[in-house]
Amino acid sequence: MAMKIALTGIKPTGILHIGNYFGAIKPALALAERYDARYFIADYHALNMMKERDALRSSILEIAAGWLAAGLDPEKVVFYRQSSVPETFELATILSAFAAKGLLNRAHAYKSVVQANIEKGADADAGINMGLFTYPVLMAADIVLFDADVVPVGRDQTQHVEMAQDIAQAFNFNYKKELLKIPQAAVEEDVAVVPGLDGRKMSKSYGNTIPLFAPEKELRKLIMRIVTNSQPVEEPKDPDSSQVFALYRLFASPQEREAFAARLRAGGMGWGEAKEELFQVVNRTLTPIRGRFCAFISEPERLTRILDEGAEKARALAKVTLTRLREAIGITLC
Ligand code: TRP
Repeated sequence: MAMKIALTGIKPTGILHIGNYFGAIKPALALAERYDARYFIADYHALNMMKERDALRSSILEIAAGWLAAGLDPEKVVFYRQSSVPETFELATILSAFAAKGLLNRAHAYKSVVQANIEKGADADAGINMGLFTYPVLMAADIVLFDADVVPVGRDQTQHVEMAQDIAQAFNFNYKKELLKIPQAAVEEDVAVVPGLDGRKMSKSYGNTIPLFAPEKELRKLIMRIVTNSQPVEEPKDPDSSQVFALYRLFASPQEREAFAARLRAGGMGWGEAKEELFQVVNRTLTPIRGRFCAFISEPERLTRILDEGAEKARALAKVTLTRLREAIGITLC
């Protein structure tokens, strides 16, 4: 039986941090072992909010290099840039004719900007471009273009996947045929919550992240900044209420984890020393990833070649879908 298809879009905004690594990259790479995976850089989605040329360009390169450095195998995963698959944008136009405006009005991402405008007494539409408003239509096109069965996303994106379902269903209903596959969101339930430097969930919006590719010196400095309680060295410490341990366990082997927890419980290890131990395991994991990342970043031609090869594979698939749909809607005349 043919493998099912997993597809996800990666928005090139900002730099990757270890929360992204454990929350999105690792689970997506694990999924690629069991599914026929198509992962792409959603660069035109990013344009809605990022209009500075150099920032957009370097974000695209860094995200692509980041995923490859973290282990994405472009031989196994079709890895491409959204902008390299123009069929996406034709399909978005087609789907626009089936996407109710009322549906898009209900998108959380759009609604929250309207709400913020109203709260500060501004015009409801201030600063809102049509790209933001039609974001879910473009995303639906990304998904159904490749007959995706599952879409691994964070919880904040499940509404968008539901909208893709609604739009695809409206399309199928109109032509009385299952022309588009109805995708399902896959939200990882047991993905580790990665604590940030201040103990809250690691997130760009909290400014509490540890970048995935921080140079060694910066990495040590950041780890030393992790908040702890003020227990003295000799006092026994509870691993389960400690940020330092929560991070350590993500990077260490089960044996190391047990040994570290036992040392904390026994007392005699201060937080400074514990953080040094943490730095060692984090740095051990990140050093090879950082090395590959730097290599990719210094060779943008190689990166572009990998992405272009992926785009070629993606376009071959996309063209098949588009031919089928054009024929079905009556745009193909003979
Ligand atoms: N909207 C997603 C995000 O912000 C990125 C994205 C674009 C995407 N197109 C997609 C995710 C298609 C899954 C499927 O992260």
